[in-house]
Amino acid sequence: MQSFEIRSRFLSFFEKRGHAVIPSASLVTSNEKGETNATLFNTAGMQPLIPYLLGKPYLIDNREIKRLVNAQKCLRTVDIDDVGDKTHATFFEMLGNWSLGDYFKWEAIKWSYEFLTNSVDAPDGDKGLGLDPKRLYVTVFAGDSDSGRDDESAKIWESIGIPKHRIYFKDAASNWWPAVKNDKENNWTGPTGPCSEMFYDITKEGLGDLTQRQFEQADNDQKVVEIWNDVFMEFEKKMGKIVGNLSKKNVDTGAGLERLATVLQKTDNIYDTDLFSPLMAVAGPMGRDDIRRQRIIADHIRSSIFMIADGVRPSNTDKGYILRRILRRAIFCTENKKINENEISSFVEIIAKVIYKGMYENIEKQKEEIVEVIFKESEQFRRTIDKGLKEFDRITSSSRDTDCISGKDAFILFSTYGFPIEMTKELAKERKIEIDEKGFENEFERHQALSRAGASQKFRGGLADADDPMVVRYHTATHLLHQALHDVLGENEGNQKGSNITSERLRFDFTYGAKMTDEQKKKVENIVNEKISAALPVNNLIVPRAEAEKTGAKHFFGEKYGEHVSIYFIGLSSNQPSVDDSKNAYSKEFCGGPHVKNTIELAGPEGRWRFKIQKEEAVSQGIRRIKAVLV
Ligand code: ALA
Repeated sequence: MQSFEIRSRFLSFFEKRGHAVIPSASLVTSNEKGETNATLFNTAGMQPLIPYLLGKPYLIDNREIKRLVNAQKCLRTVDIDDVGDKTHATFFEMLGNWSLGDYFKWEAIKWSYEFLTNSVDAPDGDKGLGLDPKRLYVTVFAGDSDSGRDDESAKIWESIGIPKHRIYFKDAASNWWPAVKNDKENNWTGPTGPCSEMFYDITKEGLGDLTQRQFEQADNDQKVVEIWNDVFMEFEKKMGKIVGNLSKKNVDTGAGLERLATVLQKTDNIYDTDLFSPLMAVAGPMGRDDIRRQRIIADHIRSSIFMIADGVRPSNTDKGYILRRILRRAIFCTENKKINENEISSFVEIIAKVIYKGMYENIEKQKEEIVEVIFKESEQFRRTIDKGLKEFDRITSSSRDTDCISGKDAFILFSTYGFPIEMTKELAKERKIEIDEKGFENEFERHQALSRAGASQKFRGGLADADDPMVVRYHTATHLLHQALHDVLGENEGNQKGSNITSERLRFDFTYGAKMTDEQKKKVENIVNEKISAALPVNNLIVPRAEAEKTGAKHFFGEKYGEHVSIYFIGLSSNQPSVDDSKNAYSKEFCGGPHVKNTIELAGPEGRWRFKIQKEEAVSQGIRRIKAVLV
């Protein structure tokens, strides 16, 4: 069964059982709802839904919805070193059905079972995956001081036909959903509870009945694979400790699409499923006859494409640093240590038009931009890689005594030559040399803290371009420019068609049928500079979509917005931003940010910068492009 079919059957099955089908949230976590996220990307389907799992009503058209179903984009880098084996990937889609204070264990278990085992030919909405119930094994929570043994779930499994001896009680390490590490101190925080997992026997001959010990051995040997997890969320955790019951009991389920596809397509690894095989065809010739390297290229480029489409750009901090690391590692795994535009283009085309056809429009729409970002990173990397390899040789020959690369040296390879730690590790492994990873992390943390504190500490060499505050300034300048173009060219002109920001400039594409005159350009510049000098506050509000649309804030037609949207206002007169006084704002746009707090920040640390249009040119019929800078 093709992955597309698995996903659509899952959504229809739960839609028929009263669940609203919701789109995947962005891969990138948002800090804008007042939460502090230590995680930078969604690592599980539940993460974007945490506010609702903690009790906030989920509204669609002002109605509270209690049953949801989705396929959520996720990214996990904890196992990045294992990518290249049969089962690990950084990006994956998680299928999930959700009860927000509605049904609980009985329905959750029954429906998981039915979807897995219903006939592939059942009527629409009841179609299942046709898995053999005799190959299913389930685990339930064995109980500990936090919560008792989950006999209720075990009884439900028995009542729907799983023999008692195939139900295993397991401890919290495997059967407790720990919440997510998303507070500042990196403790488990959020909704939590026991879970029940389903495993499938993928051996040819069939394993039959297994004792608990035999089952655990089969799990270790990957003869049975976990295909589904039902979490019964009853408690809330703060700073790693359960602090009480949730106001409502929820169900959070997760089934990894890659895993299901591997089982249903009877391949013994995820890279031979239809979710990867077309990418492997491109990665094959690039990967030096080495299957591990080919898989790393396919996986890392796939993840990078999804990250870039969701707005991440390579840099030396946070999300951008993760992107840079996986992108460079992929490039490093190629035969020639570079990736050309045709190869990148093939990856993007396959993802947008073959594997995820019709699902993630933001990839198709931003194809050129994605190719440009990856190519630019590859080129930038190439400029330092040879010098870096020489430095690596130098370091390793002088450290031969200890056979260990120090954290400081690994950091120099990163900061001066742009070598992400994974790459240094890769090289070290080839030469059977150890590396002091902890020392590298300490060094890295120290430098991040210094640059955050505003010290003039800068990265040298190949990575010096990443200057995030500048990007944020240009982001806000783009909103000002957008409104100023409307002011000068007319309300029906100047509509945004594209935007691209680097730390050096902004680029903005908009509708207008003629070359702008010098006078028009001057006027636009003057307006933007006036708004900068006026020190206007920049405020953000998150409101239900219907309310957001009432503000008249600019947004893009055809773009899929979630139930709640984030709006940025520039120049609200009140300190308490609200939809009601949005009329007063100079600029208002649907936007995820980030932005500066006040437009005066665009004038730079000494307040002297001015907004300047450097170029105005045609992109295509009726579309113009402006490049502008703050200097
Ligand atoms: N949150 C659960 C998981 O990711 C369903 O396994």
